[in-house]
Amino acid sequence: MSRPRILITRRLPSSVLARLEAVCEIDLPTGDVAIPSGDLLARVRGKQALMCLLTDRVDKATLEAGRDLKIVANVAVGYDNIDVPAARQRGIIVTNTPDVLTEAVAEFTWGLILAVTRRIPEGERLLRRGGWKGWALDFMRGSELRAKQLGIVGMGRIGMAVASRAPAFGMNVAYATTEAVDPASYAGAAPLPPIRSMPLDELLATSDVVTLHVPLTPATRHLIDRKALARMKRSAYLVNTARGPVVDEEAIAWALGEHLIAGAALDVYEREPTVHPGLSGLENVVLAPHLGSATTETRTAMADLAARNVIAVLAGRPPLTPVPFS
Ligand code: DGY
Repeated sequence: MSRPRILITRRLPSSVLARLEAVCEIDLPTGDVAIPSGDLLARVRGKQALMCLLTDRVDKATLEAGRDLKIVANVAVGYDNIDVPAARQRGIIVTNTPDVLTEAVAEFTWGLILAVTRRIPEGERLLRRGGWKGWALDFMRGSELRAKQLGIVGMGRIGMAVASRAPAFGMNVAYATTEAVDPASYAGAAPLPPIRSMPLDELLATSDVVTLHVPLTPATRHLIDRKALARMKRSAYLVNTARGPVVDEEAIAWALGEHLIAGAALDVYEREPTVHPGLSGLENVVLAPHLGSATTETRTAMADLAARNVIAVLAGRPPLTPVPFS
């Protein structure tokens, strides 16, 4: 009997490739950039599985071309790059990689919070260009976290993991979410501190650091727009490690340029890898190239989980982490 065929859109750790090679024929494009959409359409034909990244747009046309697919396994927790209803209509299972990246993204979020409030990248840039004239009492003062309010927008796994680290910095946690929150479901390294629910407008108006952890959906696209930014304190900071389009990039460039907020730290962008030109010249924004889950441990675990989903489905077993019905 012929073995199932899988298209993997980008290189994977060799241990994960070996796991897949044992059960299927692999089609793996060479090259180190995202697969062009035309190639994706052409190569997905006749495949039973597709393992893809958040940079691959798996739309109706892709699913139509991939009519033999049994599974689309996204190597990411977010799956806004996939037309899930269209996949479901065709009986194609879609899986993502929850849990395995939660702690890495939470750690990175705190890295960004510290980077922007203590102006670390800004200071480094100044030093490297020879602009440091020596220690001075009023030089490059940032803002402390102790006794301030951390406002978490979206209190899922990652939001909770970020909250669990707040006591280390003496911060109080408020959150705004549209989902039901079950603190008992959080099984991270540190317990959750007391967390206070409030409407988004109140959270924006009262928080010293606002950090975004919502998935990208029609309801969250441009959730942070000019109006939302205008509600924030002038001394507050915005952090986005969720999805770029949750923040209106034009609006954040405007708010930072006008000093309507103190600063922002962004890991994700509306049109990756392009960054709004209004942001690149600003000193009060930290710009990271979508690194939230980028640790060796986590990226390997993500690829491994996606592979185990593929292997399960191709063997006729249920997937381990199917994306939820909405
Ligand atoms: C995800 O998995 O959705 C992350 O954005 C990857 O870094």
